[in-house]
Amino acid sequence: MDENGEKNTLILAIESSCDETAAAVVRNGREVLSNIISSQIELHTLYGGVVPEIASRKHIEKINQVIEAALAQAGAGLDDIDAIGVTYGPGLVGALLVGVAEAKAIAYAAGKPLIGVHHIEGHIAANFIEHADLEPPFFCLVVSGGHTHLVRMKGYGEFDIIGRTRDDAAGEAFDKVARAIGLGYPGGPKIDKVAREGSPDAIVFPRAHVEEAPYDFSFSGVKSAVLNYINGCKMKGGSYSQADVAASFQKAVTDVLVDKAMRAVEEYDVDKLAIAGGVASNSALREAMQAACKKRGVRLYYPSPVYCTDNAAMIGVAAYYEYRNGTRHGWDLNAVPNLRLGER
Ligand code: KG4
Ligand code: ZN
Repeated sequence: MDENGEKNTLILAIESSCDETAAAVVRNGREVLSNIISSQIELHTLYGGVVPEIASRKHIEKINQVIEAALAQAGAGLDDIDAIGVTYGPGLVGALLVGVAEAKAIAYAAGKPLIGVHHIEGHIAANFIEHADLEPPFFCLVVSGGHTHLVRMKGYGEFDIIGRTRDDAAGEAFDKVARAIGLGYPGGPKIDKVAREGSPDAIVFPRAHVEEAPYDFSFSGVKSAVLNYINGCKMKGGSYSQADVAASFQKAVTDVLVDKAMRAVEEYDVDKLAIAGGVASNSALREAMQAACKKRGVRLYYPSPVYCTDNAAMIGVAAYYEYRNGTRHGWDLNAVPNLRLGER
């Protein structure tokens, strides 16, 4: 109960789809009481990317401590929790299984409902945490390490996918280019930082558009163009400016993201646009999107960086709305590595 005697709904959420082991407690869908993230980034940096087998092992090692910490920080016990939310796809199967098995065990033992959450639905829901006024319908550009989706959110838990990537995800392109220019993993934040020292107009990299599908994305071309450019420089015995490559690549990617989002804004007469996922914390993307939205009188929403990259608070928010919609999963809930958005 809160101070007005109203019943609170508390969700304990678990996220383990990639390289963060995370748990959170969320009250009434929008208030984050705790958000604990144990990142494996340092471990995977040694290998230049996420090693699935190692990710699963680390999740197993950390998950109980992370959940205990989330409950303790929220000042809640399992008795206070109304439902357990967990990411069950998409993601690395071994990593997802750790969270799913844990959530099932807790839900079963404590007699609580179990709610499987789509990871991308979680990323979109991250926008609700800090924007009390944001409610569907709105458009959302989801740009993460594994996904690039332009989504129309019609209602809570109701989506139309307007466009998606044909090959690499935006974050994946950031990570691959960063590795090629010697910045290491994870590439996005490093390119973001180094790009500030370079010129976005130094090198013209291609802006790919998919002819027959104006809202689909393709980032493999720009990635190859960067690799060709640096190989060309090396073959000529010369060097290249890491900062200029980073800034020019970043501009090529953000130009396409902004262009497509604005095309949708105009065609669908959108007045609210959100961005979500790890790449949504990119400073150049935020700036360019903000300027483009302002010109068109569109309100732009984005989460704080900690809610852009993987976390369990966003899963708790999505789980709350699924809970309200009546979604309940059975004890046969499994990890679905290629789960599609809107599928149950
Ligand atoms: O959403 P996320 O944590 O995981 C997935 O669901 O994939 O996104 C991680 C991705 C990585 O590719 C990372 O390089 C990228 O987000 N990223 C960024 C920035 N911060 C994280 N990309 C560009 N600029 C950033 N500041
Ligand atoms: Zn993610």
